[in-house]
Amino acid sequence: MMIGDWLDIGSVDQITPGTARTLPVVGADEIAVFRTQKNEFYALVNKCPHKQGPLSQGIVHDNVVTCPLHNWNISLKTGEALGEDKGCVPIIPMKVDAGRMYLLRSAVVGSRAA
Ligand code: FES
Repeated sequence: MMIGDWLDIGSVDQITPGTARTLPVVGADEIAVFRTQKNEFYALVNKCPHKQGPLSQGIVHDNVVTCPLHNWNISLKTGEALGEDKGCVPIIPMKVDAGRMYLLRSAVVGSRAA
């Protein structure tokens, strides 16, 4: 369901704090939607900037996810690798309103979630 430029991707209850869920996108990279322990929400392309590890399966701490493959730390706010590591994964602007999550439609490459 779409409201204006925002794509409704469902209830916040779908994601346990400290974990992520994935959202397939037709014709584009899968998106990982993260919920932190502090109930902040972030959406990133689900590919580590190192060797494309599935960030959705990483460990979330504060506003950072640790990639499950080689332990790079990626900022959920900026998509950038932290520390000595260099690289950046695209982020997708999102918002939460009345218990539902919305992605900025124009930022979802292909503009259609499956
Ligand atoms: S693929 Fe993520 S740290 Fe290597």
